[in-house]
Amino acid sequence: MTVHHPAPAPSEVKQRHRALWALGDYASVADVVIPGLGATLVEAGGVRARERVLDIAAGSGNASLWAARTGADVTASDLTPELLEAGRARAEAEGLHLRWDVADAEDLPYADADFDVVLSCVGVMFAPIHEAAAAELLRVCRPGGRIALANWTPEGFVGRLLATLKPWAATPPPGAQPPPLWGSEPHVRALLGDAVTDLRAERREVIVDAFATPEEFRRFFVERYGPTHAAHRSVAHDPAQQVALETAMDSLAADADEGGGTMRWEYLLVTATRT
Ligand SMILES: C[S@@+](CC[C@H](N)C(=O)[O-])C[C@H]1O[C@@H](n2cnc3c(N)ncnc32)[C@H](O)[C@@H]1O
Repeated sequence: MTVHHPAPAPSEVKQRHRALWALGDYASVADVVIPGLGATLVEAGGVRARERVLDIAAGSGNASLWAARTGADVTASDLTPELLEAGRARAEAEGLHLRWDVADAEDLPYADADFDVVLSCVGVMFAPIHEAAAAELLRVCRPGGRIALANWTPEGFVGRLLATLKPWAATPPPGAQPPPLWGSEPHVRALLGDAVTDLRAERREVIVDAFATPEEFRRFFVERYGPTHAAHRSVAHDPAQQVALETAMDSLAADADEGGGTMRWEYLLVTATRT
């Protein structure tokens, strides 16, 4: 099994994004905080054996591996080769056969209508130009095919975390929109427009109880989650800013703690049929 590299050389912006997601250890973050979300998405998309399925911004295969377990013919695509490698190793260990493609969600290397089902699990939302990414996911889905997306909402924990990190994050490229807007139903309806029918959007939550204290959450996320790792690294030589960032992350987690470290992280589950 090989990782394919069909995409053209990424722009400087995409190289920065790729480096960001390769920081830390995202595969373990997915394992700890969203172990069941891939399965939920695959079920919502109604994935069946032998269907051609594309997972966009698949990371280490959180949803792709579940799709492959149904017997579907799965392509996992992502900007970050290191994450695809992690997914490929997992697939190999399980005897699953998937295709692993390095690809930008805004410029997918596939033919029109190539897939029966297009999925993205808290993934496509991170491509900066929403209209471009939406146009691509619609283009590669066949008429009558299905789209299923899980997107963190702006009001939910990850939406608030990304907003909290903003003062310490790299300046987004021109035209970029905030990732959690994909978790807003009106925004997704506008993005997919009349290229889909039967659009359903439901707010759901994942229960995260892996961190006993806010500090435990913060340490884990600073070490392993690209966006928080990068923000923290940017203030490595500024102790006051470091304290400010850590305090902001701790307050967020403390605010979300329902007792004993249990948190609910809201996402929008979107399903639709391509017209
Ligand atoms: C939060 S992770 C989600 C990964 C995976 N879908 C999961 O459920 O664990 C976000 C992913 O988006 C990918 N990504 C960011 N920008 C991208 C882009 N423009 N095109 C493709 N993938 C992108 C990152 O490399 C990363 O794997």
